[in-house]
Amino acid sequence: MSLGYFDDQRREYVINTPKTPYPWINYLGNDEFFSLLSNTAGGYSFYKDAKFRRLTRFRYNNVPVDTGGKYFYINDGGCVWSPAWKPARTDLDSYECRHGLGYSTIEGQKQGLSAAVTYFIPMGENAEVQIVRLKNTTDQSKTFKLYSFVEWCLWNAEDDGANFQRNFSTGEVEVEDSVIYHKTEYRERRNHYAFYSVNAPLAGFETDRDTFLDNSNGFDHPDVVYANENQNSIAHGWSPIASHCLEIELAAGEERELVFVLGYQENAEDDKWESKAVINKTGAKEVIARYATPEQAKAALQGVTDYWSDRLDNYVVDSSDERLNRMVNVWNQYQCMVTFNFSRSASFFESGIGRGMGFRDSNQDLIGVIHLEPERARQRILDIAATQFEDGSAYHQYQPLTKRGNAAIGGNFNDDPLWLIQSVTQYTKETGDFSILDVQVPFNNDENNTGTLLAHLKASFNHVINKLGPHGLPLIGRADWNDCLNLNCFSKDPNESFQTTENKGDGKVAESVMIAGMFVYFGQDYAELCKEVGDNAEADRALTEITRMSDAIKQHGWDGEWFLRAYDAAGDKVGSKECDEGQIFIESQGFCVMAGVGLEDGKAEAALNSVEEHLSCDYGVSLLYPAYTEYKINLGEISTYPQGYKENGGIFCHNNPWIMIAETKLGRPQKAWEYYTKIAPAYQDDKIELHKTEPYVYAQMIAGKEAFKPGEAKNSWLTGTAAWNFHTIAEHILGVKPSYKGLLIDPCLPADFSLNAIKRQFRGASYNIEFIRQSPEATKVSKIEVNGQEIAGQVVPAQAQGSDNKVVVTLS
Ligand code: BGC
Ligand code: NOJ
Repeated sequence: MSLGYFDDQRREYVINTPKTPYPWINYLGNDEFFSLLSNTAGGYSFYKDAKFRRLTRFRYNNVPVDTGGKYFYINDGGCVWSPAWKPARTDLDSYECRHGLGYSTIEGQKQGLSAAVTYFIPMGENAEVQIVRLKNTTDQSKTFKLYSFVEWCLWNAEDDGANFQRNFSTGEVEVEDSVIYHKTEYRERRNHYAFYSVNAPLAGFETDRDTFLDNSNGFDHPDVVYANENQNSIAHGWSPIASHCLEIELAAGEERELVFVLGYQENAEDDKWESKAVINKTGAKEVIARYATPEQAKAALQGVTDYWSDRLDNYVVDSSDERLNRMVNVWNQYQCMVTFNFSRSASFFESGIGRGMGFRDSNQDLIGVIHLEPERARQRILDIAATQFEDGSAYHQYQPLTKRGNAAIGGNFNDDPLWLIQSVTQYTKETGDFSILDVQVPFNNDENNTGTLLAHLKASFNHVINKLGPHGLPLIGRADWNDCLNLNCFSKDPNESFQTTENKGDGKVAESVMIAGMFVYFGQDYAELCKEVGDNAEADRALTEITRMSDAIKQHGWDGEWFLRAYDAAGDKVGSKECDEGQIFIESQGFCVMAGVGLEDGKAEAALNSVEEHLSCDYGVSLLYPAYTEYKINLGEISTYPQGYKENGGIFCHNNPWIMIAETKLGRPQKAWEYYTKIAPAYQDDKIELHKTEPYVYAQMIAGKEAFKPGEAKNSWLTGTAAWNFHTIAEHILGVKPSYKGLLIDPCLPADFSLNAIKRQFRGASYNIEFIRQSPEATKVSKIEVNGQEIAGQVVPAQAQGSDNKVVVTLS
């Protein structure tokens, strides 16, 4: 059964059933206001922060899986249905959901009536606009009622689930004309309210959920809709909602469009009220007026489409492989923006309440968007760096609303500092903007204690060498990239968190070979940057430390056929053939080889051969092998998962690209390509029912070969997989790499693949890079011409701002 297909022309994924194996969602919004929206209209909206400013309710982790959303019902002569199938769940005559870039259209048809809802968030607006297109396809006139529905979340999504005894008494609304205003807690410390409007007169409305549904019904059977009669309820506490009712008459063949606006507004403290207890609604009315007509709304929708066209024009590949083109040109870049916006906070697997922005996650997300949004990337780097401490350590997470480090989680994840080096060096190479290095950035958000961004990087670098263990390898702290490898937490108590408890001595024994590899890899970037800014002494110092670390890896981090993963708190090996389980891990193979450790003496090659032999399967490369079959207290959370899932031998898609890059270092393009296509979503069309999550984006994890159901994915969208895969395909496989001196051209292409051209913006100039392969395997650059002139070497120097440049690369 086909569940959908890519419409490349329109940059949409078209879903042709509401009964996908899991909700297939989209993200709306680019700036400060966002919505998550499933193919059955499930999801919610928030302003800036999915915990503290959530407008509408969503019931996470519930049955059915996707409950709560931006719903519509139609009562057409007693037949009640929803264009998105949900919530009414009446069988439709036809259904289609088109997820596009920043918008989705869901269309249903029943009894000769077609209803299509396009959801989007206009650029710069703190509101979701919904264009509802109704068409009578019969040859007789039709009169029916259309009901909208959202349920207000009382702002703090955590309270909504945890302190509902209070919430049951706080809800307040106002209704004026065709607008329903939500003002819970506005009487006290909030100066923000929400509204939901429609550009037509109402036949009725509801704002009280119990009246709308009747307490004994679910969303699939609202009393008011079935009775086709409104009570015009005003909520007092309990659960406030907003439902408009419109009576619509359409002549035979007639079409009509309506515009709904769901928005967020703030008022100045001294300007909150129009009169006693009545909200000052000026702001909302201004927003509503901007979408008073369908034409205005469609122009705003065009604005969103233009934004994306403009951004995606910055990097376009033209190859013989249409799946590659759609991954690279559209969906991978799109997912990169989404992960940049949300880190790991709000998806259909992450509640938006817990995690905020991750220090390591956000740094990695950056590498997928610098070419799309350099200014926002710059700001993000500065925000992240401000949550770092003077000794280089960092808060593991921060809250997007306050930009403050999350004290409840704290720090001591010893990989964290190094990711800042990665994001900053990628940023400076892409943009050439060195001024960022001189910005005074607070330590621990303390404006009175600042250092330049470059000083922050130095602190990151030093943090590793200030915390070395008995083998001269970096101490792991609570965990490194692998959150679940908790070598200093010996937990016997199920009520304890693996990641925030440290109880194994002073943590001065457990070491990470992965951090060692990271240090060598990103340390080289640090040294290069120091040279670039003229600090040769610091560059030399860094290189000395890197050499020392490389030696430590070769001496104490090599297991004979692959790199060890770690030493635990007792000084015993983790990820060694001496272990009964978990003999080989992916992370240290990836990072050590990317860093170039063992390239000269065969270790790198042996390590990657071992990866292929022990970790690779049809669905990708597993994190470790053999998976742990029992809980090992000295390893922590990793062994809590059944075999083949998550960090215990799942295919953690995030680290697969490390192996791809490593293969390019070894000059094995075929292998790199094989690993790329194993997990890239566009190549999974034959496995999609098994795969289960969205076919257009990466998932964090695919069940590994030792799992009960290998190949089944979980946790789609918010994963470092997006940025790393884009970075890998763009810079290491297709091989156009921003560098300080210009664009380094160094592809590593599989045989029989024709890369025609890459069109790319770089520091304000445009480059059209054409490739000529002299034989089907040719991948060595033998000649480069820039605007007709042959250049020496492989670096195309940065050209004048605004110039259009033609580059011809010959591969032999
Ligand atoms: C998950 C990891 C995740 C971590 C986040 C763990 O429970 O298994 O995948 O990175 O939590 O803190
Ligand atoms: C997901 C987390 O967001 C990320 O930070 C971590 O590196 C991976 N899981 C692996 O544990």
